[in-house]
Amino acid sequence: MLSNNYSNRLFGRTRGRSKKKIDLKKYHETVAKYQFKNCDKKKNYILDIGTGYGETSIFLANRFLDKVVISCEKYIDGNIILLKNIEKNKIKNIRLHNGNVCDVLDSIERECFDLVWIFFPDPWPKNRHAKRRLITSNFLIKLHNTLKESSEIYIATDSTIYVRFILNSIYNCKDYFAWLNQSEMNLHIKDYFDIETKYYKKAINSQRKPSLFILRKL
Ligand SMILES: C[S@@+](CC[C@H](N)C(=O)[O-])C[C@H]1O[C@@H](n2cnc3c(N)ncnc32)[C@H](O)[C@@H]1O
Repeated sequence: MLSNNYSNRLFGRTRGRSKKKIDLKKYHETVAKYQFKNCDKKKNYILDIGTGYGETSIFLANRFLDKVVISCEKYIDGNIILLKNIEKNKIKNIRLHNGNVCDVLDSIERECFDLVWIFFPDPWPKNRHAKRRLITSNFLIKLHNTLKESSEIYIATDSTIYVRFILNSIYNCKDYFAWLNQSEMNLHIKDYFDIETKYYKKAINSQRKPSLFILRKL
């Protein structure tokens, strides 16, 4: 039985703490230029969820030049950095959804993702905030419906509380996903990818070991 619900609500910050003024009109014009609209049958897509400052989207776009990366993030300060890097490096294969990934998932009518990345989703460690956590069994099943055959989900976290919660969600979805790196003692990100995001660095600086879960659609 599924123990946790899939929540469509979005929590956390939209703006950073800095008092620096942002030209929102210009921001929304640039977002519109790179806006994700819908999945084109002829293209292959990667869904990158909660991209913060966009490091993962840039990494994935460079690594998978034949695919389009859909970067989902509502944090404006982070999206501004991502958009600057897209323009500076003339990256052609990133589309942005400035908002909740659930909007994208709800708009998709067929299996279109080759890969899903979720790097350091907000752990919401307090019990009273547990319902805010993104990774639940229902959310994984929602992703399952949008993944192409045998496609994979990569989830990274440095929170021991979230690790337990994710393990429970994976267990509840065992008919939907195979947990590929289950038998490995170490789930270190660096064993798989040479990428350092803001939250990866934060974890390392605080001597927390990030874990990586790799799931394959059954
Ligand atoms: C802890 S940060 C991690 C950022 C980045 N992936 C990294 O590794 O540095 C989590 C991010 O997920 C975003 N986020 C949380 N829920 C989301 C949702 N439902 N849709 C899109 N982004 C979401 C938050 O705005 C936040 O920027």
